[in-house]
Amino acid sequence: MSKAIKGFSKLTKEQKIDWILDTYFTDKEAAKTTLKQYWNSNSNLQQVHDEFIENTLTNYYLPFGVAPNFKINDEIYTIPMAIEESSVVAAAAKAASFWMNRGGFKARVISTKKIGHVHFVYYGDYDKLLKFFNGIKDKFYEDTQSITSNMQKRGGGITDIMLINKNYEEPNYYQIKANFETVDSMGANFINTCLEQFAETLKRELNNSELFTPEEKDIQIIMCILSNYTPECLVRAEVSCHVNELATEGMTGEEFAQKFERAIHVARIEPYRATTHNKGIMNGIDAVVIATGNDFRAIEAAAHTYASRSGQYRSLTDCEVKNGQFRFWLDIPMALGTVGGLTTLHPMVKFAYELLGNPGAKELMMIIASSGLAQNFGALKALTTTGIQQGHMKMHLLNVLNNLGATEKEKDFFKVYFRDKVPHHNDIVTKFNEVRAKANN
Ligand code: MEV
Repeated sequence: MSKAIKGFSKLTKEQKIDWILDTYFTDKEAAKTTLKQYWNSNSNLQQVHDEFIENTLTNYYLPFGVAPNFKINDEIYTIPMAIEESSVVAAAAKAASFWMNRGGFKARVISTKKIGHVHFVYYGDYDKLLKFFNGIKDKFYEDTQSITSNMQKRGGGITDIMLINKNYEEPNYYQIKANFETVDSMGANFINTCLEQFAETLKRELNNSELFTPEEKDIQIIMCILSNYTPECLVRAEVSCHVNELATEGMTGEEFAQKFERAIHVARIEPYRATTHNKGIMNGIDAVVIATGNDFRAIEAAAHTYASRSGQYRSLTDCEVKNGQFRFWLDIPMALGTVGGLTTLHPMVKFAYELLGNPGAKELMMIIASSGLAQNFGALKALTTTGIQQGHMKMHLLNVLNNLGATEKEKDFFKVYFRDKVPHHNDIVTKFNEVRAKANN
């Protein structure tokens, strides 16, 4: 059977599944059962999920867990996390408890600017265009009034519009660059709609002008799109304590602080380490971004560009040990929304918001940054003391046992057996086979 198909999106869900099964699967019934067991028995709820994207066949579960005891700006939060990696929630919860006893997380939103561009080609003199552009600036605001009026009522809107000359990098390439305040919404649709109107306004005004030749009037709009790089939509989360309060696992507080600082320096200067270091931060960030129905690809993209802002990819966290005080912080761009998108559609997202006390975007930025900082602290603490495998493999133990088909009784036995050992995969399998063989004799 051909693996290519025309008009797939027009088929019903059942027809799509049948085609997939007939084309790709040998045991069709087993594959169908796998798909259908994830359908929600509430057909209305299932329909909501079906309609999020095109060609939905079923739902894809991620565990939804919580990390309690996050003290952020003196409020206590239980943070929702949707993630598959076994040790992430445990590490976040452990770091949260650790810092709760040392003053908690302090977080602040540094800025909330979002940016978008109309990228276009113009065959003429830049200074002439600039003068003209400044003369018609009001038109851009006037033409987008119907789009921006609601946003303005909420305290947002377009905050600046400027012409950027990129001619020296790419011949005849220019931008309209606009800054936006989108308050509690991520604002992607709002920004893109404004930008598309800016392009129309520019074309119209040029056309109506007598100052430009036909060639100069013939601009080409390449595209109108927001930027997911939001270095000025920035949040900082921070923890601090006296170094003596960091004493741990046979190390004095001073020894720990010094080793921790070195680990941060390694991630600052070594991109191989910085990538893994930042990945650990994103473990804590993405899990909350997903649980709260935000766009984790946008947050990821911005974070990594920001990590490269000096021209080299570096750690997103930093630390300082001065006069006996340990300070550890994360600065990260975080363009997210608490209204619109999935926030009113996905029941688990609604649940997550209620759990967090229905925060606005700024509060959510601070919560998520604190989760990222906690995760990085947990990872570095483990890496610089016991090693990562002890905690990681303990959490992974259940996955391995589930794969081996362990019973609940066997799982209990293995949790006790590995309490004081690092459960390496081979050791689990060998011991499991031994226990099973004994039980079968
Ligand atoms: C694993 O998902 C994340 C870590 O590798 C992060 C780090 O090395 O800092 C533990």
